[in-house]
Amino acid sequence: MDSDAPHAPCREHPGSFKLLGAETPHRPVLFDEALRLLDPQPGGGYIDGTVGAGGHAAGILEASAPHGRLLGLDADAETLALARERLAAFGARVTLVHANFARMGEVARSHGFDPVAGVLLDLGLSSMDVDDPARGFSFLREGPLDMRYDRAQGQTAADLVNTLSEAALADLIYRYGEERRARGVARRIVARRPLHTTIELAAVVAEVVRGRPGLHPATRTFQALRMAVNDELGALEQGLAAAIDLLQPGDVVAVIAFHSLEDRLVKQTFRREAQDCICPPGQPVCTCGHRAALEILTRKPVVPGAEEIARNPRSRSAKLRAARRI
Ligand SMILES: C[S@@+](CC[C@H](N)C(=O)[O-])C[C@H]1O[C@@H](n2cnc3c(N)ncnc32)[C@H](O)[C@@H]1O
Repeated sequence: MDSDAPHAPCREHPGSFKLLGAETPHRPVLFDEALRLLDPQPGGGYIDGTVGAGGHAAGILEASAPHGRLLGLDADAETLALARERLAAFGARVTLVHANFARMGEVARSHGFDPVAGVLLDLGLSSMDVDDPARGFSFLREGPLDMRYDRAQGQTAADLVNTLSEAALADLIYRYGEERRARGVARRIVARRPLHTTIELAAVVAEVVRGRPGLHPATRTFQALRMAVNDELGALEQGLAAAIDLLQPGDVVAVIAFHSLEDRLVKQTFRREAQDCICPPGQPVCTCGHRAALEILTRKPVVPGAEEIARNPRSRSAKLRAARRI
């Protein structure tokens, strides 16, 4: 999610959300489209690996009533507390666990969700995180350089910014932020450190990178640090592998990604797992023994319509892909 329109769970409309300070009822990103692809059935067991404030989860629980069960994971303990409150009405049909979805396999097995009938990942950070300066995700709000989804463990953005070598910082900013001025940014950061706050870092980046309308100069550097702090691509790779493993034939994994590196990883994983042979092209005889596990349901990613983008600008970069276990 990547704009600044605040939104929070809407108590008046179960399964929907409301923009703070506005009257428009507001649903989580690509809500109908994700539900249509997952097609929850009464009695199935589902995993929401990024339960967030519980909007998609509530939709899955409503669609799988009366006996459908949901295992919701979130790396962020505070967000999970909100989901707990939000989903309390579903009682014992919901199990919520504070965990990274990279560990989905073991968590699912230990809570009786193996196999499952569908898995949803709605990647990135919640709007509550963007809007909370204390989390350090926003370059527009003064806060500590934290950026961890799970504040109980791991290195913060400040740790990376203040201890990595210039070359390692440049590599990280280039690889995860696709920032063409990565070397210049890294050089300037090293010259100015220690850096402690989001605004300090954003100002240093803005000395090197020119923004353009709609793109703050620090956007790519902040994205890169967030991805590195949370090992987002590593977690996604492990989460997808676990999801494919947990599904039974006919069941669906759906992923909503918000930037190109994540979306590319989802697309490539689905493509690879939809093929029988993954030997290098030109190899005359197959030696890999790989067998297709997925059928791709979305040739092109599903994206929000103009109406959803107008209602929720944060949805504008969302891409939904889904595949069915065969
Ligand atoms: C975009 S929000 C999900 C919103 C949710 N679909 C809803 O309807 O409210 C993404 C959530 O995923 C969590 N998250 C991000 N990466 C994660 C990971 N690797 N494991 C578990 N949770 C993660 C974030 O803490 C955040 O709460």
